[in-house]
Amino acid sequence: MTQHDPRTVYLKDYQPPAYLVDEVKLTFRLAPETTRVLSEIRFRPNPDAASRDFFLHGEQLKLISASIDGTPVEPELVEGGLKLDAPDAAFTFAAEVEIDPEHNTALEGLYRSNGMYCTQCEAEGFRKITFYPDRPDVMAPFHVRVESDLPVLLSNGNPGERGDGFAEWHDPWPKPAYLFALVAGELVAHSDRFTTRSGREVELNLWVREADIDKCAFGMEALKKSMRWDEEVYGREYDLDVFNIVAVDDFNMGAMENKGLNIFNSSAVLASPETATDADFERIEAIIAHEYFHNWTGNRITCRDWFQLCLKEGLTVFRDQQFTGDMRSHAVKRIDDAMTLRAMQFREDNGPLAHPVRPESFVEINNFYTVTVYEKGAEIVGMLRRLVGEEGYRKALDLYFDRHDGQAVTIEDWLRAFEDATGRDLSQFGRWYSQAGTPRVHVTEDWADGRYTLTLRQETPATPGQPDKAPQVIPVAVGLLNPNGDEVVPTTVLELTEAEQSFHFETLSARPVPSLLRGFSAPVILKRQQSKEERAFLLAHDTDPFNKWEAGRDLARDGLMAMVLDGAGPDADYIDALGRGIADEGLDPAFRAQLLALPGEDELAQAIFETGRAPDPTAIFEAREALRRAVAERLGDVLGRLYETHQIDGPYSPEAEDAGRRALTNAALSLLSLTEGGDRARAQFRAADNMTQQIAALSALLSIEEGAAELKAFEDQWSHERLVMNKWFGLQVARATPERAAATAEALTRHSAFEWKNPNRFRAVFGALAGNAAGFHHPSGAGYRLLADWLLKLDPLNPQTTARMTQAFSTWKRYDETRQGLIRAELERIAGTEGLSRDTSEMVGRMLA
Ligand code: PHE
Ligand code: ZN
Repeated sequence: MTQHDPRTVYLKDYQPPAYLVDEVKLTFRLAPETTRVLSEIRFRPNPDAASRDFFLHGEQLKLISASIDGTPVEPELVEGGLKLDAPDAAFTFAAEVEIDPEHNTALEGLYRSNGMYCTQCEAEGFRKITFYPDRPDVMAPFHVRVESDLPVLLSNGNPGERGDGFAEWHDPWPKPAYLFALVAGELVAHSDRFTTRSGREVELNLWVREADIDKCAFGMEALKKSMRWDEEVYGREYDLDVFNIVAVDDFNMGAMENKGLNIFNSSAVLASPETATDADFERIEAIIAHEYFHNWTGNRITCRDWFQLCLKEGLTVFRDQQFTGDMRSHAVKRIDDAMTLRAMQFREDNGPLAHPVRPESFVEINNFYTVTVYEKGAEIVGMLRRLVGEEGYRKALDLYFDRHDGQAVTIEDWLRAFEDATGRDLSQFGRWYSQAGTPRVHVTEDWADGRYTLTLRQETPATPGQPDKAPQVIPVAVGLLNPNGDEVVPTTVLELTEAEQSFHFETLSARPVPSLLRGFSAPVILKRQQSKEERAFLLAHDTDPFNKWEAGRDLARDGLMAMVLDGAGPDADYIDALGRGIADEGLDPAFRAQLLALPGEDELAQAIFETGRAPDPTAIFEAREALRRAVAERLGDVLGRLYETHQIDGPYSPEAEDAGRRALTNAALSLLSLTEGGDRARAQFRAADNMTQQIAALSALLSIEEGAAELKAFEDQWSHERLVMNKWFGLQVARATPERAAATAEALTRHSAFEWKNPNRFRAVFGALAGNAAGFHHPSGAGYRLLADWLLKLDPLNPQTTARMTQAFSTWKRYDETRQGLIRAELERIAGTEGLSRDTSEMVGRMLA
C-alpha cells in the first residue's frame, strides 16, 4: 500500500526550498478556542532552488488576513497550505490566523493539557499553528510574543521584555519550525543554575504544576550532569542564558528537544522515591540527557529532510547510552540495550513493518519514529566508533560539528565527516542505512596444527520492497579462551565485509573456545552450533560481561525451546549454572539480576518461528512458568539468602548500586513467591517506603493470583497521583493470566479513572495487554477484538498514538491459521473503517500488504 498510496513522499524527490527565511516574528493572543497567531516572515529567494513556486504549509488554520510587504493579498488556499505569486526578491509575508487549541485532541500543534497551553511541532505540527515552510531545511531565528493572563509564558531562546499579560522571547539560533515551542500556564519552577566551562551563566528551570514540585530534584540533577558530560566528552557547551523544561500530562511521546524549551511527558521527568521506581529514575535520567544532547545533535545541526531522521535520533540515542554507561555501569547498560534491540527492533525487522534506518518513502512521517530509526540508528553509530576507534570517532565528531554547525544535513554529510577525519572509505558501510533487515552471521570453525579458523558467512533475509541484500560491513569482536578458562586471545575486532570470509589464529596450544560478538559488537543474529557445555563454560569463564550474560541467556532459551517444542522438562544443568552465577559475590548485583531474567515470550515466539514452526503463545507462557518454578524450587536457598543479604538499610537512593541490589532482591522475591506463597511479598509491601519495593511486592503477589487487598490499598493510597495510577492500571493487565488478560483490561476501561484520551493512561492498559503475549494472543481472540475496538475509538481523536499501537498486531504472520485469521479480520476491520486517519491507514496497510 505504501508504494501505491498517492500521498507517499519519496526521498528521491527531494527539492531544495524555493525561498529561505531570514527572520520570523510571531505574536500569540491565547484563547482556548480562538487563539490568534500573527506572523511576519522575511523571505528571500533560495539561490540553490530550481523553482520559484511559493508554497506555505498550513492545516486546520482559519486565515484572517495576509499581506506582502504591507499590501494585502489573497493567497490561494490549497490542500495542505497556500500558494501565492511571490516576488523574485526578498519580501515580508505577514498573516493572521485563528486556531482552536481547546479541541486539538491530536496533541500536535498548539493544544491544551489540564488548562495549560503547550505545543508539539515535530515532525510537521507547526503547520497547524501558522502558514510556514514547515520543513527542517528552512532555518531561521525567531522572535515570539505571547499574550495571555496566565502567569507563566514561555517560548524558545532568551527571555525578552515581560509585562502585564505578555512576554517576549528571542531565539538567536536559526532553527527549523519543528523546534518551535510555546507554553503558558499556572506553573511553578524548580530552579537551579549552571556555569558552562567558558563561564556562561545559565538559569535552569523545571516547570510543573504545584502538586508536582516535590518530584523535580532528580530531573534537575540529571540535567546538570548531562550538561557537564557533554562538555567533557564531546566538548559541547550550552548556548543560551536559560534552559527550560516543562512537564505535561498529555503527550504522545516521551519528550521533545525544542530549542531552550524542552517539553516532557510528565512520566519522563517527574520522580520522587515514593512515586517512581528505580527503572523510572534511570529512564528519566536518560531522557533528560537525550533531549539535552539534541541541542547539538539535532538543533545546532539538524536534518535536511525527515528521511534523515536517524541523523539526529540514532546519534543522540547513542550519546545517551554512553552517558548512562558512564553514570552507572557500561556492562549492565549494554545488556539492557541489546535486550531492547532484540525484543523490539529485531521484531520490527522480521515483520511487515521492516524498513531501513533511513527509509526511502513514507505516507506519514510520524509512523517512522521507530525502534529501527532510533535504536538500530544508535547501533550504527556504535559500529562506526568501533571501526574507527575512540580517537577517530572524536576527530570525526569534531569535524562534523565544525563543518555543519547551523546547517540541515544528510547521512552522506555525516559519513563524509568520518571519511575525511579518518581516511576510511565508508561506501560499503553506508548500506547499514539503506538495507532493512537483521543480518544473520553463520559461524563455522576449523582446528588443525595449532591453527584455529573462524569462517563467517552473512546473509540478510528479504524485507518488504528489498528482496536481495548485499553484504554489509560487520564488526565482529572476538576473544579466545583456553579450555582451562584463561583468555589466550584478547578481544579483537574482525571486519566481515564479504558474503563469506575466514579468519585465522595461529600458534595456539589447544583448541580454543571462542567468545563471539563480544559486547554485542554489531546488531546481527549469530548462528552457530554450540554445545550446552560450552555455554556453561562461557557463563563461568568469559571475561566479556556481555557474552557471559549471553551464554546464560542462550542456555535458558535452548532449554525453553526444548520444553515448548519437545516436551522436555526444565534443564537442571542450566539451573545449576544459573545458581553459580547469581551466587557469585564478585559480580555486580544488577548484572546478576539480568542473569535471572528469562528470555521473554515474544523473543521465544520469534525463535520458534525461525525454526519453521508456528509458536503457541500459551505453550510458551506455560514453559516459562514451569522453568521459573523449577528455578525457585532448585535455587530456593540461594534466592532466599540473596533476598536477605542484599536488602538495603537506610534511606532510599536511586543511584545504580542500590538500584542493582533492589533489582536482584526483587527478582528473587518474584521467584520465591512461586514456591513460598505471598507472605514475604506482603511483608515487603507493608514495609515499603519507596515505589520500587512497593510495586515489586504487588507484582509478585499478582503473579501468584494473590494481592487483592494490596491492590485495593495501593489504589486508595495513590488515586490522586496520575503517574502512579498508570502503574496500577498496567500491572493488573500485565500480571493477568492468559484467560483473564482481555477481561481485566476491559473491566479497567470501565473504571472511573480510565481517562482514555490521555495517552499515558491508554497505553498503560493497552500497552500492557499487547505485552501480555499469552493473554493478547489467547485463542478466543478477545484480546485482538478489544484492542481493535479501542484503537478505532481513539483514532479520530489521536491518530499518532493509535497508529503506534497498531504495532501490537505486527507479528501476526508468525502464528497459526486460526490466530492469523482472527488478527487479519481485526486489521481489515480497522482498514475498512471510514474516515480512518492517514497514520493508522498506513500502518494497517503495511501490515496487510
Ligand atoms: N524528537 C523527540 C525525541 O526523540 C521525539 C518526538 C518525536 C517527540 C515526535 C514528539 C514528537 O527526542
Ligand atoms: Zn530524540
